[in-house]
Amino acid sequence: MAHSHTMIGGNGRESYSKNSTYQRALLEATKEKIDEAVSMKLDLGIASSHFNVADFGCSTGPNTFVAVRNIIDAVEHKFRRQTQQNPKEIDETNRNNPKEIEFQVFFNDHSNNDFNTLFKTLPPPTTREYFAVGVPGSFYSRVLPRNNLHLGHCSYSLHWLSQVPENVTEFNKDSIHCTGFVKEVTEAYLGQFKIDFGSFLDARAQELVSGGLLMLLGSCLPDGVQMSETMKGKIIDCAGSCLGDMAKSGLIEREKVESFNMPIYFAQESEFKQVIEKNGGFTIEKMERVSHENEEFPSDARFLRDSYRAAFGGVAEASFGGDMVDKMMDLFEEKVHEFIDKPTKAGMQFFVLLRRN
Ligand SMILES: C[S@@+](CC[C@H](N)C(=O)[O-])C[C@H]1O[C@@H](n2cnc3c(N)ncnc32)[C@H](O)[C@@H]1O
Repeated sequence: MAHSHTMIGGNGRESYSKNSTYQRALLEATKEKIDEAVSMKLDLGIASSHFNVADFGCSTGPNTFVAVRNIIDAVEHKFRRQTQQNPKEIDETNRNNPKEIEFQVFFNDHSNNDFNTLFKTLPPPTTREYFAVGVPGSFYSRVLPRNNLHLGHCSYSLHWLSQVPENVTEFNKDSIHCTGFVKEVTEAYLGQFKIDFGSFLDARAQELVSGGLLMLLGSCLPDGVQMSETMKGKIIDCAGSCLGDMAKSGLIEREKVESFNMPIYFAQESEFKQVIEKNGGFTIEKMERVSHENEEFPSDARFLRDSYRAAFGGVAEASFGGDMVDKMMDLFEEKVHEFIDKPTKAGMQFFVLLRRN
């Protein structure tokens, strides 16, 4: 079944907007990389008077505003150096001045994303140098007109598959995700990832103008490392184990737990690269590991509970209901150290820069 589970909306204690500092750290760590990428690889000639940016899988903010800020700063910086002009000083006598740049930003997410919170918390017009547009719909299809986008960005979203792959349930009764240790399950998840990421690239290839840039950020796995060997994998294993405990004590049905699987897959680095190369619509300009001090989750049980609830709680709620997920999270907070205090292998944060051929 196709999924469209979003992050927890609003601004409350459990919301994504209050519990996404882990994801934000990567955006902050890549500011310089974005500046350098735009400086070296963006041809300002691809845009005339307006420059279109899209953030795919934007959620509710504030992370998307940080990402957009980084991009606009970088484009303005390049504009200033190339033209010796200030992009903010609009020539009122000549509104058609081709050197003046106006930005339009498309915020994309599933239609059930909390766009109200996103728009209510936009930076105020006095400091926001762009026109904001909401674009509802799955990024695995076209969401923008053809040949009109100059720079696309997508962070921490491509591990969300369009659906749980078919036929995993019979092989994955003991787990709620792709641990990497059951061959049939790994093949099914990888197959779905290839279809979805391929569709994402096909759609962006149509929306971007030739020479347009696509920036992809997120987490993946170093080649040869399995999901359940990493801290992130062990955290999800813990959530699965809590559901198992609840089934044992009769709070939820065992069959429901056995048939529950998360529609997420963290690809290995080479799997990611292969899909891009096979697609053929883009040149890989950069594919870099990003190291920063907040790369691994801190081992603070409360922080892990809140981050996990905000990002993945929605999927579990759809199967078990909000009250049961609250109980599961209480158990999670008690048990998580049993999982993460064991030795773990490092995961990987990536920054990929693609140029539309
Ligand atoms: C972990 S959040 C990342 C939000 C933000 N980009 C950040 O870096 O903090 C993942 C976002 O991707 C969105 N998402 C997942 N699959 C999607 C799809 N097929 N189409 C559009 N948005 C999707 C989710 O709804 C969610 O808002």
